[in-house]
Amino acid sequence: MLTPDLFLNGDEELPESSFIILTLSKGISEVTRRLTNEGFTEGKNFIRRTELSPVIPAIEISGVCNLRCIACPRSDTRHPFENGGFMSVEDYEKVLSKLLQELPMLHLVSLFIWGDPLLHPKLPEILKINSRLGVGSDISTNLNIKTEKLEEIMKANPTYLRLSCSGFGSKNYEVTHAGAKWDLFYKNCFEVSRLMKKYDLDTGVELYFHVNKANILEYKDIVNMARQLGFRTAAVLSMCFPQYAMNFAENIPLPESAQKAKDLMLVSMEEVLEAAKGENEKPCTATNGFPNINWDLSVLTCCNFNQDRIAANFFDIGTDELIKLKNSSEFCKKCISHSIHRYYGLRKYDNFVKDLLMEKCGLPAYI
Ligand SMILES: C[S@@+](CC[C@H](N)C(=O)[O-])C[C@H]1O[C@@H](n2cnc3c(N)ncnc32)[C@H](O)[C@@H]1O
Ligand code: SF4
Ligand code: SF4
Repeated sequence: MLTPDLFLNGDEELPESSFIILTLSKGISEVTRRLTNEGFTEGKNFIRRTELSPVIPAIEISGVCNLRCIACPRSDTRHPFENGGFMSVEDYEKVLSKLLQELPMLHLVSLFIWGDPLLHPKLPEILKINSRLGVGSDISTNLNIKTEKLEEIMKANPTYLRLSCSGFGSKNYEVTHAGAKWDLFYKNCFEVSRLMKKYDLDTGVELYFHVNKANILEYKDIVNMARQLGFRTAAVLSMCFPQYAMNFAENIPLPESAQKAKDLMLVSMEEVLEAAKGENEKPCTATNGFPNINWDLSVLTCCNFNQDRIAANFFDIGTDELIKLKNSSEFCKKCISHSIHRYYGLRKYDNFVKDLLMEKCGLPAYI
C-alpha cells in the first residue's frame, strides 16, 4: 500500500483503486522512484502530468534583446529585428489563465521566443504568478544583465534556467554572442550559484553550450565551471537559425554575420538540409512548442520563425482554432517543402556531437 506521507498529511491510506497524477514541476524523479519502490507501476498506478500534456507553450514576455548573436535573426541587417516591448504582468496572467482553461494539464511554459526574458522589468512577478497557478517556468537567457537584478529573479525560484553560451573566455564567445561581454556572463554565473545556495533554491540551472568549429576545446572549461557552480551542462551543435536555412534553401544570400555562423557549424548547413530531406515525411520537430504567444499578444505560427502569424490577438481565439490554423498554414507548407521542419533535432547529429565531445574533450554532452 502506498505510503500516505508522500501525498496526505494524516494516517489515512489511499484506496487500492486510486490512480495518481504527478503534477509536480520539480522533484518528480524522486517521487517516481519512491512510488516504484512501493510497488507502484508507472502507467498503471500513476502517471506524470507531462504525459497528459506534452505541449509546452511559449510566451514571449520580452520582445527585446540586448545582443545580436550571429546565428540569430536578431543580427539580420537586411530586415532589422526591432526591439518590441514587454508583455504587461496583467496580460501575462490573463494569457496563462486562458491557457490553463484550454490546456488544464499544462505544467510548464517557456518565457522566451526571440527575446531575453531576464530583461523583463517584472520577471519576478511573472514567476510568482506561475508558482501560484502551479505552472513551471522555463527560462533561457544570455545572462548579460546587471548583476543586481539577479537576486529578485532567483528568489522567485524559476523551474529551469538555461544559460546560453558559446565559448569560455572572450575570444570565441564575444564573436558568436555578438554584443555580449564574457566577463559579465562569467560573473553572473557565479552570482546565480551564490544565490542558489543563499536561498536554498531547487532551480535546474544548465550551462547550454553551442559547440562550433572554433570553441569545441573550451567545452572542458565550461564543464569545470559548471561543476564548480553546481550547474548541469548541455552541449548542442551550434546551428545557424532556421530562418537562414530557409533563405539558403531559397538561394537568398545570407547576411555577413549569418554567413560566419554558417561557416562555424561543425556539420554544414548543406549536409543538415540534405539529411532533413531524407526525413521529410516525418512530423515537424516543433509541434510540442505551441502556442507561441508574442509580447504584443499576436500568435506566431512557429517558435522557429519570427515573421509569420496565425492570429492577431490570442484573446480572440481558442486553442482548437489555433491548431487548425497552424495545420493549414501556408508558411508551414513552405517550410516542409524545404524539409526545414526536420532541420533541428536530427538524431544522427545529436550522436555526432556526443561522440566528438568524447573524442576531443573526453566528456559527455550532457552532465
Ligand atoms: C533565440 S534564443 C532566445 C532566448 C535567449 N535570448 C537566449 O539566447 O538564451 C532561443 C534559444 O536559442 C538558442 N541558441 C542561440 N544561438 C544558438 C546557436 N547558435 N545554436 C543553437 N542554439 C542556439 C539559445 O541557447 C536559446 O535557448
Ligand atoms: S540568441 Fe538570444 S541572446 Fe542571442 S540575439 Fe537571439 S534572442 Fe538575443
Ligand atoms: S512546419 Fe516549419 S514553420 Fe511549421 S511549425 Fe514546423 S518548423 Fe515551424
